Amino acid sequence: MKAILLVGPLAGVQGEHLQRAVSARLAGVEIIDTGEGFDSLWRRMRELFAENRQLLLVDLEPSADGAYLDWLRAELAVLSAGYPQAPPPRITASALGRRGLDATAVLAAIDDPAQQLDCQGIGEVPSQPDWSAPPPHRHHLFLCTGPRCVRRGALPLWKTLRRELIRLDLYENGEGALLTRTGCQFPCNRGPVLTVYPERVWYGLHSDEQVCRVVQEHLLDGVPVADLRVDDEA
Ligand code: FES
Repeated sequence: MKAILLVGPLAGVQGEHLQRAVSARLAGVEIIDTGEGFDSLWRRMRELFAENRQLLLVDLEPSADGAYLDWLRAELAVLSAGYPQAPPPRITASALGRRGLDATAVLAAIDDPAQQLDCQGIGEVPSQPDWSAPPPHRHHLFLCTGPRCVRRGALPLWKTLRRELIRLDLYENGEGALLTRTGCQFPCNRGPVLTVYPERVWYGLHSDEQVCRVVQEHLLDGVPVADLRVDDEA
């Protein structure tokens, strides 16, 4: 039986819901959560190759782009080369995860071989970016992941921030924002702290709604959100 791996940062309700929706139509669907890294994916793939199973990897990474998919495809090709008896794995060919977890789009990509690529005999993929120049961006955001901001709820807020930037096509591109995690930025008691450059604005954010306001009002409209600032301009 073909194994269908839904792969991405899929822990939680949305991932389970997607798995249920896809499993209701198809057998052999597994979910692989890569929120903490890819080790579980490599491990499961080795097991499936050893059983000579046909494998389709459905990539659902929300920040996927062409370079990422090329890299993942090349990794699959290298891994499968050690199992010549196993059928070559296939991978969905577009950045499905950028549209959110959409079961209809996932099922369409699984059903349609034209939306998939073989992972076999492809050359080494050059790494992008080339790690020698700053990537293009309009804003540089520094997300505090120091211990007190994390205790005050930073991590779910930064997930919301990333999702919102991706939704508005502002994620790590020339018109958008580059995200950098930091240690303690010092105004812990006002955190979780987000600083935005080049304007040098410091925010203390406490809800998804406040995160969305910063994206809309500051990054898109160009007006810092005065009532969320914790710097001396507040
Ligand atoms: S831990 Fe975030 S400002 Fe100190």
